[in-house]
Amino acid sequence: MIRPATIHDVARIQEIINSHAELGKMLFKSLAELYETLRDFAVYEIDGEVTEESTVSAGRVVGCAALSVIWADLAELRSLAVDEEFRGRGIGRRLVEWCFDEARRLQIRKIMALTYEQAFFAKLGFEIVSKENLPLKVWSDCVRCPKRDGCDEVAMVRALADVPMIVMHQAPPTPKGVTIPVLEPLED
Ligand SMILES: CC(C)(COP(=O)(O)OP(=O)(O)OC[C@H]1O[C@@H](n2cnc3c(N)ncnc32)[C@H](O)[C@@H]1OP(=O)(O)O)[C@@H](O)C(=O)NCCC(=O)NCCS
Repeated sequence: MIRPATIHDVARIQEIINSHAELGKMLFKSLAELYETLRDFAVYEIDGEVTEESTVSAGRVVGCAALSVIWADLAELRSLAVDEEFRGRGIGRRLVEWCFDEARRLQIRKIMALTYEQAFFAKLGFEIVSKENLPLKVWSDCVRCPKRDGCDEVAMVRALADVPMIVMHQAPPTPKGVTIPVLEPLED
């Protein structure tokens, strides 16, 4: 089942995300970042199992995803990951659909993702867009990304047809003509 994450899920969410980060598929997340953004997260939990002693073991979180609000008409789907042994069972799709429902609740029409999993997102109705047209705020994580100078992720967007367009009072700043600041290591 899918449910909003609670404080008890944070350690497991970090384990799932950082195991993918070690393979270069996602960015590492600190506990501080996860606590701060916990309200953005949903987890997929499988039921507990009946053991040999006929006791029921606790449920296990095997996937997570987060929806982060970027602007009046845009939210970013982040930190989507499913444990390797549970892939191909529709869990990734259900987590993305949770993000769609959350965007509907918030009345945010467009959802974007920066990803290497182009085919997966295309199946869920996302289309490739130019990174230059995404708001600058999306790039806040780039400062600490090892691939910031040669980003090879694809930007994809899906619009929810049932959420009305919003009249925006101000358009978000985009990275056109702007360089992303990089933190230089301190010299001894
Ligand atoms: C991408 C990921 C979340 C997919 O999770 P999953 O639970 O295996 O996906 P699902 O079983 O829900 O698949 C939904 C559909 O997408 C397809 N699909 C899944 N992964 C795919 C892939 N890598 N390429 C193409 N299609 C894919 C499935 O075949 C399925 O198609 P169907 O509905 O026609 O049967 C998972 O592979 C993952 O955790 N990857 C590593 C982390 C990552 O890259 N996350 C994305 C960060 S933006």
